[in-house]
Order: sequence, then structure tokens, then C-alpha cells
Amino acid sequence: MTEHDRRGFLKALGGLCAAATGVAAAGAGQPAGAQPAGGGGAAAGLTAPKLDTIRWGLIGVGIRGSSHVEQLLRLDSCEVTAICDIRPSAIARTLEIVRKAARRDPAVIEGQADAYRRLLDRSDVDAVIISTPWEDHVPQAVHTMRAGKHAFIEVPAAVTIDECWQLVDTAEATRLHCMMLENVCYGRDELLALHMCRQGLFGDLTHAEAAYIHDLRWQAKEITEGTGSWRLAHYEKRNGNVYPTHGLGPVAQYLNVNRGDAFAHLVSMSSPALGYREYAAREFPPDHPRNRAKYVCGDMNSSLIQTARGRTILVQHDVTTPRPYSRLNLIQGTKGALGGFPTRIAIEGRTDVHAWQTDMVPWYREFDHPLWRKVGEVAAKAGGHGGMDFVMLWRVVQCLRDGLPLDQDVYDAASWSVVAPLSEQSVARGGAPVDFPDFTRGAWRSMAPLGIVS
Ligand SMILES: NC(=O)c1ccc[n+]([C@@H]2O[C@H](COP(=O)([O-])OP(=O)(O)OC[C@H]3O[C@@H](n4cnc5c(N)ncnc54)[C@H](O)[C@@H]3O)[C@@H](O)[C@H]2O)c1
Repeated sequence: MTEHDRRGFLKALGGLCAAATGVAAAGAGQPAGAQPAGGGGAAAGLTAPKLDTIRWGLIGVGIRGSSHVEQLLRLDSCEVTAICDIRPSAIARTLEIVRKAARRDPAVIEGQADAYRRLLDRSDVDAVIISTPWEDHVPQAVHTMRAGKHAFIEVPAAVTIDECWQLVDTAEATRLHCMMLENVCYGRDELLALHMCRQGLFGDLTHAEAAYIHDLRWQAKEITEGTGSWRLAHYEKRNGNVYPTHGLGPVAQYLNVNRGDAFAHLVSMSSPALGYREYAAREFPPDHPRNRAKYVCGDMNSSLIQTARGRTILVQHDVTTPRPYSRLNLIQGTKGALGGFPTRIAIEGRTDVHAWQTDMVPWYREFDHPLWRKVGEVAAKAGGHGGMDFVMLWRVVQCLRDGLPLDQDVYDAASWSVVAPLSEQSVARGGAPVDFPDFTRGAWRSMAPLGIVS
């Protein structure tokens, strides 16, 4: 979107915001606007009027959306009032989950790709979780906010730079929450590392490493439904770090990105794209569409981000190599380091820094994050990526009920997601540096650091 296009978009949005506020007043009970209008960082620290009960609508109830339904039904103060999907089988499976939990059936919205607009028209929906294919996230989230409802978007929030701006502009104009549901920020070890960073255990932070390394070649067998049915198309047309946020979100929080520091530029390179081709040749007949496809996304993408304060972050992506799962989750500073997969630590004065200490039990005892101490036990039983899904939704609900700012705002959604299109640009230009847009329009300098939740 050019600057001219963006101004047009904002102007159009301005008219719609009044309507959105009206919908919110009739639906959620109140419009969500406590902040002054417009300007850089206008959605920073955004708070919305408290909600006693959060009435959820879900767009997309496939693998991820239906698991959100399952978790929401475990939480106090939550009702699932409406679900929407274009596939009857996804709706049926989700209704089974609701009935198993002995809860009232939500309204069901089915139909064509734009049927979700009917969910957004409903007055019994306060907040919407969007768990659809990546390319649908932004149009659905923008419509959600325009309809006066908070938008919670699965990862990555957006696919293009323009889409990232659309999220920022819409959240700022509507004063509604727009959060990307980066659940990994709520993993026990990620919260532990965040807590330790805030306690200064690693000294001044200098460098981090993040990744999404996950052998997902089996998804090629999902032809008509399931994640692979839409995800592989991205690997046929994009070459870069297309799924960056699981590893990057947590380390961005350790480093206070958008809250005192900011992503400045990146360089990115991809290896040859061989994994899907080799897998398809082995698993499908020669004339199968998976063999006719041309995969362009390099098996391993390595992107290196430098922040405004000079810190560096390695972000890797690889879903096509037979190797163990890793998000790297490494953070280091002048006094030591913590790494992930397996979790390990070295801190000057406390451990031998020439060997990793892998017994984390004493560290959990001393530094488990207050949020994990509070709900970790229930979360571990609830499951969902080791409990992180439950902790995330528990925390979101706490913030919505108490009118608190969310831990991840629209600027995080945009700047963590934009790594994908920026890496594609850099790869296409032989690894040349590419600048990050400043979605906060300078406000990152004064935005308060993300605190520890007590
Ligand atoms: N945070 C995590 O740990 C995690 C895990 C898995 C998936 N995800 C994310 O969740 C999202 C969904 O992935 P998934 O694995 O559940 O995929 P999926 O294919 O199982 O589910 C997507 C669902 O969206 C539905 N859909 C498609 N277009 C729609 C439309 N216009 N309106 C309503 N419904 C529509 C599909 O029918 C399908 O049921 C993706 O963004 C993915 O990256 C996140």
C-alpha cells in the first residue's frame, strides 16, 4: 500500500469507526475507547472497558480453532457464543467438543468464504478468535475490529507489509484490542527466561536466537483439508522466513522490542529448496500435484535482525528437514546465557560458564514466572503445547475482565509478523539489508517495558 493508498484506507476507516462504535455499544456493551485518538503508538498500553463475561466468536474451527474452543470452555467468565467455518466437518467436530463439555451449543455460521461477516453482525460476540489460513487473517481481523469487536489472530498475524499496516491503522482507529495469539510467549521456559531477564541475571542483553525448526513434511499429505491443504501453497510461491513468530515473539519480549528497543533492519538468506521435492518424489505418484508443484522456499532460512540498540537476533525457519524440533530460544547478555532445546543455562558467578548447566529444577524453583506459578499446574493438566495455550487464554481473559492492557499489542503482531515479507525481500535481493517499518511511528522509545505479571 502506498502512502496515498494508506491515507485513503484510513479515511474510509474513519467513517466505519463510528459505525463500529455503535455496534460495540449494542453488542459488547460499550465501545472500547479510553485512549486519545490517532497518532504514533495510539494503541500502546490500550485498555478496554471491563467485561464480566467474554462472549467469544471463532472464525475457523479447524485443528487450531477447535482447540481454542476446548480451552475456552475450561475458563471462567467465558462463553463460546458463535462459531464459523466453511467446512461442515470442522463445525461438527467442534460441536462435539462443546457437547462433551456439557455446554450450550454456539450459533453456527456456515457457508461461503465471507459467511464470517454474519458472525461479526451478532450482538452476542465481544471478541473473535481467527484461526483460518494465513492469507485470510487480516481481512477477517480488520472486519472484526470494524464491527466493534476485539480481534485475536492466530500466527502469523499477517502475510504482507501492507497487511501489517492495516492491522495497526485499524486497531489505532477503532481502539480495540488486536492481539496475535503467540502462545509460545506463555511457555514455562519462555516465561522463566523473561523473568530472569527482568531480574538482570544475564546482565545487559546483547543477542538472541529464535527458530521454527519442525519437520512438517507429512502435511504434504493433507490435500483437501487440514493445515497442509493451504500451507504448502506458501512454500510454492514464497522464499523466506514464512513462519517466524513462535521463536521470535518470546525473544522480542526479553529484549523489550517496541518498548525501549525496536527491530531496525534484517538480512536474510535461504538454502536450496529440496525437502518437499524429495519427500513428494518418495511419497506420491509421479503425476501427483505434489510432484508437479515447484517448491521455492529454501529448506533453511536464516535471518539476522539488528535492533535500534544494536542487539542481534538470529531467526531460522525449516519445516522440511528430518531433524528434531527446536525454537532455539537463546538469550545472552554480559553475565550469561540461557538456551533452549534442551533448556540450559550458564551464568557467571553461579555456574561454570564453560559448560551448560542442564538441571533446571533449581532455576524453576527460584525463577518460575509468577504467571506460571499461579496457573501452571492447571495449565499442564489442560495440555495444549505443554500448557502454554491455556496460560495464554487465561491471561487474555484476565486482561479483558480487569480492563488491563494485553501483553502483546498490535505493534508486536505487526513487527513480529513482518519478518516474513521482509525476509522474502532480502532473499530476493541476495541477502541485502532491508529496513523494518516503524509501526509505532517512534513511540517505541517511550513505551513502558512489558512487566512481570504478579
Ligand atoms: N499457535 C499455534 O501453536 C498454532 C498451531 C497450529 C496452527 N496455528 C495457526 O492457526 C491457523 C489455522 O491453522 P490450522 O492448523 O488450524 O489449519 P486448519 O486448516 O486445520 O484450519 C483452518 C480452518 O479455517 C477454515 N476456513 C478457511 N477459510 C475460512 C473462511 N473464510 N471462513 C471460515 N473458516 C474458514 C477451514 O475450513 C479450516 O477448518 C493458522 O494461522 C496456523 O498458523 C497456530
